[in-house]
Amino acid sequence: MISNTKLILLIILFTLAQRPIETASNRSFPASFKFGIATSAHQIEGAWNEDGKGENIWDHICHTNPDYIDNGDNADLACDSYHKYKEDVAMLKDLGVNYYRFSLSWSRIIPLGIAGSPVNPAGIVYYQNLLQELIDNDIEPLVTIYCWDLPETVEEYGGFPNPEFEEHFAYYVRVVFQNFGHLVKYWITFNEPLESCYQGYGTGTMAPGYSHSGLTDYKCAHNIIKAHAKAYHVYDEEFRTQQQGSVGIVLDTSWYEPATGGAADVEASERALQFAFGWYMHPIAFGNYPPVMVERIDQRSEQQGFNTSRLPKFTEDEIEYIKGTYDFLAINTYTTVYAQAREEYDIDVISWDSDMNVDMFLDDSWEETGSSWLRVVPWGIRKLLNWLSKTYNNPEIFITENGVSDKDGLQDDQRINFFREYLSNVLDAVLDDGVNVTRYTAWSLMDNFEWQRGFSEKFGLYHVDFEDPERSRTPKASAEYYAQVIATRCLVDVCD
Ligand SMILES: *[C@@H]1O[C@H](CO)[C@@H](O)[C@H](O)[C@H]1NC(C)=O
Ligand SMILES: *[C@@H]1O[C@H](CO)[C@@H](O)[C@H](O)[C@H]1NC(C)=O
Ligand SMILES: *[C@@H]1O[C@H](CO)[C@@H](O)[C@H](O)[C@H]1NC(C)=O
Repeated sequence: MISNTKLILLIILFTLAQRPIETASNRSFPASFKFGIATSAHQIEGAWNEDGKGENIWDHICHTNPDYIDNGDNADLACDSYHKYKEDVAMLKDLGVNYYRFSLSWSRIIPLGIAGSPVNPAGIVYYQNLLQELIDNDIEPLVTIYCWDLPETVEEYGGFPNPEFEEHFAYYVRVVFQNFGHLVKYWITFNEPLESCYQGYGTGTMAPGYSHSGLTDYKCAHNIIKAHAKAYHVYDEEFRTQQQGSVGIVLDTSWYEPATGGAADVEASERALQFAFGWYMHPIAFGNYPPVMVERIDQRSEQQGFNTSRLPKFTEDEIEYIKGTYDFLAINTYTTVYAQAREEYDIDVISWDSDMNVDMFLDDSWEETGSSWLRVVPWGIRKLLNWLSKTYNNPEIFITENGVSDKDGLQDDQRINFFREYLSNVLDAVLDDGVNVTRYTAWSLMDNFEWQRGFSEKFGLYHVDFEDPERSRTPKASAEYYAQVIATRCLVDVCD
């Protein structure tokens, strides 16, 4: 007879054996594969009003509505990287990264942001110093021109939904290419416009905090896509011959796994990918919005009594102008969500979600993290990479963000496992599936201002002490692991 303790032990062992344990590949990353790490200006710089910097929409919302952010946090000082950039570069050097992805603060460079307004010399000097420091340390810069910190004046002029936005952005990118183009080979125009538009103007969960989904988020996206294309052509026509760089845009999506193998759920998964990712990538790759968006939004708009579709139209000239404006495909991705078919939303509901018409949910068995939306699902990244490769004709792909928020402090074993398992799936996609991924960028160099979550969500490989006025930085265990992966190009102790 088995004693109770033995029985319990057997059940535990059985449960452990049942848990699908992923095993990281022991193959090596190709010699040409590059590893980097990312941050963004507003999340780390601080110095929000120093040396002539103008106010941006996140300064504004934090100062005028502190309840908007967890614990009333703001990014006035953040990680103080405006003063500590040399220390940041020393950390990058310790990690051994091939490149650093960071962003420029528009309102530090052009305080008012609007076309024709004055340039701030101190802002130019700051980024020239940072770029030079990187180059002196053999770290390639991968520069994001815009990451979420719109100058407040541009917002007050109507922000992204105003068609004039394109002119303000074109003015800004010329200043950027003129002043930094000799030091930079890889440019990203916008970071995650899905979030700027859907959360900024659709759900109100990001600055400027408007909630008109299905309306201004579509206008926002329309103008960002046109501004991106304009920036690409400005580079092409005025700078590329001399500067010899590449230009792309960073888009984000989760992998949407069909809830079942049934045709309706498979279609729901494809529809979710098209509404989240295709919304931006389809025009940039093929000239216009995904057919499923055009069809559904045109039809629902008509049924709702609008005299024209809520999804703006590109002219034939614009379609030609936008098509093909990318030198690489760049993706930020963190997790997987189940996508399931559902009954049509009530026709009175006007939103991106009801236009898409997909139910989404997480699997309770997926490992939780420090973020409610982020579960550890390593196989999802391989499926997403295959979908991207197939849908966009095998482009060169940069993973420009991937990472996890921790609850562990300095011994962040969950993050080490996350990187090992996700990178193993990236490697399988490259070596077994023929997906042309050439770069992997960890998010993020250090704990920082995580937008509405303030300093409560910690994505850093370096811990930052936000109680310390010096904002002292300490490597977590994952920093050592990532440095080892970069040095050996191997995820486990020994590779073949
Ligand atoms: C819809 O109504 C607006 C406002 O009256 C008008 O300017 C526009 O031309 C109309 N569009 C169509 C397609 O009828
Ligand atoms: C990946 O893309 C790069 C840049 O376009 C190209 O040089 C390389 O040949 C591609 N590799 C594969 C395996 O397709
Ligand atoms: C790598 O993994 C393969 C298959 O799992 C195994 O046969 C091989 O011995 C491993 N190589 C090393 C160096 O551990």
